[in-house]
Amino acid sequence: MFLTREEERILAGEEGEARARALKTVIKVGEALGAERLIPIKHAHISGASYENIGDFGVEFIESFAAMGAKFAVPASVNPVSYDVEEPLSLPLKLSPEYMRAQERILKALASMGAQLELTCTPYYAGVPERHGLKAGDHVAWGESSAVAYANSVLAIRSNREGGPLALMAAIAGRTYYYGMHIDEQRIPLVEYIVEGELEEAEAGVLGEIVATRHKGERPPLITARFSSDASVREFLAAISTAGDLAMAHIREITPERPPREVERRERISREEIDEALERRAPDGPVDIIYMGCPHVSLEELSNLIKSAGSRTIISVSRSVYSRSEELARIARERGVRIVRDTCLVVSPFYKSGSFRVATNSFKAYYYLSRRGVKVYLARTRDLLGYSH
Ligand code: F3S
Repeated sequence: MFLTREEERILAGEEGEARARALKTVIKVGEALGAERLIPIKHAHISGASYENIGDFGVEFIESFAAMGAKFAVPASVNPVSYDVEEPLSLPLKLSPEYMRAQERILKALASMGAQLELTCTPYYAGVPERHGLKAGDHVAWGESSAVAYANSVLAIRSNREGGPLALMAAIAGRTYYYGMHIDEQRIPLVEYIVEGELEEAEAGVLGEIVATRHKGERPPLITARFSSDASVREFLAAISTAGDLAMAHIREITPERPPREVERRERISREEIDEALERRAPDGPVDIIYMGCPHVSLEELSNLIKSAGSRTIISVSRSVYSRSEELARIARERGVRIVRDTCLVVSPFYKSGSFRVATNSFKAYYYLSRRGVKVYLARTRDLLGYSH
């Protein structure tokens, strides 16, 4: 791989052991993929911050870099963790003091390296792009697959799916390998998927699952579809990155880049296919919890949901959105709706805390909760709000 003099210097340890090690890891991964050079990044988003997901090995890995005196070379935000830091029991969780201490160690180590503890999977609703001047065409290293898909597809901010440890290494090194979504040509779609009619959140998630399982090749799919809101775009993008390994979809009239004049192939996806996939997963009886906010919702969406949500509803948001929703939080409390920050049903130990029947409008939450043994159903937002009363 071609390295600049600056990169050679870092690799030789002139900026400390931690930065040299981090850069070496980024180079190794880049070389394995065939990248010819590195590219400086403007921001990193660290996933793999939940103790539930990374366990003791993960805690020690992060702490080992903090102990070497590692500092992030670029601003870095952090993904959700295993409980709401301000109010640990805002979700029904069984948390031991040792468990909480392990989570605190992760946060402390990340903060010592300079991380901003946004604790959200939707940094783009928490003001991160604005705060750091991120704009279309900028290169970043984000580790949360749904956020990566949103960055590439909606904001035209370029990132590969880095995964937790690699985003951490890129943040310390200030660089990532020049590959995949960082390269103009790799962002141009070759296959188009067309669907008729408007898609709300759960429908968009199912469409994402269908596209991700059908789509082959490394180029992003071109999507011609009508999404009812930014929330349904987000659910679609979370689903394509959950059911497959896509890092981007080029969505007509949403993706800022120009769509290609021609594609190699076009496929239609029928409404019946989407409706059937949803019917198969619909609740077959009463549910205990209505869950929304995977990925974390925006302030506008929170405000719309609160207007109609009944008790038994849980909505997850970033601490940034939470801090701007004081009045909404009051209304939510009166109605028995829980607004949860910093975490979610998937990355917390929720699945160990009882046998709840959960209904959600998020394909991603449906996918992971069912794999964790939770009885979970997928339903349209308006139906969920109906069940919640
Ligand atoms: Fe976010 Fe948790 Fe879903 S981290 S994307 S709300 S699984």
